[in-house]
Amino acid sequence: MLTMGIESSAHTFGVGIADNGKVLANEKLMYDVGSRGMIPSKVAETHVRNARTVVRMALEKAEVGIKEIGGVGYTKGPGIGACLQVGQLTAKTIANGLGVKIVPVNHAVAHVEITKHETKLRDPIALYVSGGNSQILKLTGEPFRHYQILGETFDVGVGNMLDAFAREIKLRPAWGSTVAKLAINGNYIEMPYTVKGMDFAFTGLLTYASSLAGKKNKEDLCYSIQETSFAMLCEATERALLLTNSDELEVCGGVAQSTRLQEMLRSVCKEHGMRFGVARNEYNADNGGMIAYVAERMLKSGKSEPLDRCDIQQRYRIDKAVVV
Ligand code: FE2
Repeated sequence: MLTMGIESSAHTFGVGIADNGKVLANEKLMYDVGSRGMIPSKVAETHVRNARTVVRMALEKAEVGIKEIGGVGYTKGPGIGACLQVGQLTAKTIANGLGVKIVPVNHAVAHVEITKHETKLRDPIALYVSGGNSQILKLTGEPFRHYQILGETFDVGVGNMLDAFAREIKLRPAWGSTVAKLAINGNYIEMPYTVKGMDFAFTGLLTYASSLAGKKNKEDLCYSIQETSFAMLCEATERALLLTNSDELEVCGGVAQSTRLQEMLRSVCKEHGMRFGVARNEYNADNGGMIAYVAERMLKSGKSEPLDRCDIQQRYRIDKAVVV
């Protein structure tokens, strides 16, 4: 049975097709964030315009017809309400038209699970880092199989923090990767560092670094904010690994594409003789392939929902999602 997965939680409208754990297609079109950032209604309008095209792109890539799709999954949350709604309605329309089962998927679970699949890790601690999220996760079976949040940001996600800083110092989009490029030639300036156990906070760092805009050179500021925030993530993650006696770590989500963060986490794992894994960039960016992959597993274990109960949830936390 082929399963189609639809992702639309933020600026990406993605459609994936999975077949027995294999992703046959992972196609997407993105809203151009430009210099204004994301305006939810504009992003949703773009998704509406792109939905049909991306579905067709995925079918062509997988070399299958729409009638061969035997189940549909979509991102229920977390994400931007207006954007999530477009994916939800597209999925419902397709499932209803084909008369096949449909299942809502948690976006964070999809990132963690596709990374586990790609890296072949068995039971890793997961560092999930994206624009809106920064969490340290572990799979547990009590009271139901789900990802327990061992630690997380007290305020903003590390990706949004780096983007906000980039806008403060008037960098061009894509902000996070522009910070990374400038950081290569920077020198370290001491900055606020906030880790409490396995939790952390970024607002103090953002405020301080922004206050130095125009007073220090951009390369030094980019290097220092990146090194400080990533070191915070590494400290909290290392603590989680040691406290849970884990010997595997995966990093996933948009910020997991950072080669500097990967390098720092890899060195933490090396020091303790632990295994480290990260998926290909196409699965760390938002994508429909990971939704198709998880939806297929959910449908196979009987986890479908009636159409009228297929909702969206902007703050759908990972610890509320059943993992099969
Ligand atoms: Fe994502």
